[in-house]
Amino acid sequence: MNCIIRIDELGLINQIIIKYMRHDFFLEKDITILEKIGEGAFGQVYKGLYKQEEVAIKFMQGAQIQETSIMESLKHKNIIKLYQYYKHGNCQYLVMEYAAGGSLNELMKKSLEESIISQIMHSIFEGIQYLHSKQIIHRDIKPDNILIKNTEDLSSIKIADFGLSYQYKPEIRYYQTVSQQCGTFIYMAPEQILNKAYNKAVDMWSCGIVLYMLLNQGKHPFYPRIFTKKEFINSFPDLKYEQPLHASPLARDLLYRLLQFDQDSRYTASQALVHPWITRKFNDPIPMSVKQFGIYILIIIIYFVYNLITTKINQTISNLIQKRSY
Ligand SMILES: Nc1ncnc2c1ncn2[C@@H]1O[C@H](COP(=O)(O)OP(=O)(O)O)[C@@H](O)[C@H]1O
Ligand SMILES: [Mg+2]
Repeated sequence: MNCIIRIDELGLINQIIIKYMRHDFFLEKDITILEKIGEGAFGQVYKGLYKQEEVAIKFMQGAQIQETSIMESLKHKNIIKLYQYYKHGNCQYLVMEYAAGGSLNELMKKSLEESIISQIMHSIFEGIQYLHSKQIIHRDIKPDNILIKNTEDLSSIKIADFGLSYQYKPEIRYYQTVSQQCGTFIYMAPEQILNKAYNKAVDMWSCGIVLYMLLNQGKHPFYPRIFTKKEFINSFPDLKYEQPLHASPLARDLLYRLLQFDQDSRYTASQALVHPWITRKFNDPIPMSVKQFGIYILIIIIYFVYNLITTKINQTISNLIQKRSY
């Protein structure tokens, strides 16, 4: 198979390839590089052909082993598949499923119907629920990293870019929190900005930002009002976003439950998936957050304990009265 772009042309646009990879390397692997489709902080992404199939090829320099090992372990319809992974000198490249429909960035500029937004969010939550069930935090959920395979079918949403993902250590996964500050500031959860220990809930905050932007044609809930981390910290916890009054009450309810400053009050992906705005069963009850559920259980326990104690006290008093009367 011939490379459509000659290696010297490639060299002009991609220093990594010219430096570390040779033309015959691609031929040997049956890979054709077509065009550049993305550039991020850690490398470049090209559209290509791999064994005659359209693919995306991400080139990275330096150690990004974590991204590959996490991606290798994932198999879900809402997550970009990794087909092959090659290492060549100091350079690595990932051959991945190609999402032809671009990212949410372009899509959200349009005015979208709520039913469409709900479908998109449903797919994102499914992908995140799967990641969280595998004890993985994505840590960089944002419109650029949410890709559309086929614009005709919005359930074909795919989560991409596992460059900042974190997998819990198996032996301590249940109570482990993470403290490394990373991600894209404007999508970062407050606990991360405030340098506190955090957990999977950071991804759900980012989902809240994405939902807000989808409902508001790409407008962010806090920016450009708040520009810097310092401004965010100073205005916390009184920071409020402008309510999208054009949105339905149920859409705003879900938004409220995702954009909770307190990570324990924030919805998990599983709870978001059964919210009536997502299931489209508008008369269904709204699920409680973990914290709300905890408080609810506590109230029930207090109620039973109170009843038990008052019954006991009443019994003792009536016993005493009975004894006296004898
Ligand atoms: N599988 C893919 N299919 C189509 N486009 C992709 C794919 N992977 C990445 N891209 C494009 O390349 C951009 C950068 O890729 P990403 O993996 O997010 O790299 P970075 O870690 O540098 O942000 C994405 O925002 C997207 O536009
Ligand atoms: Mg990215």
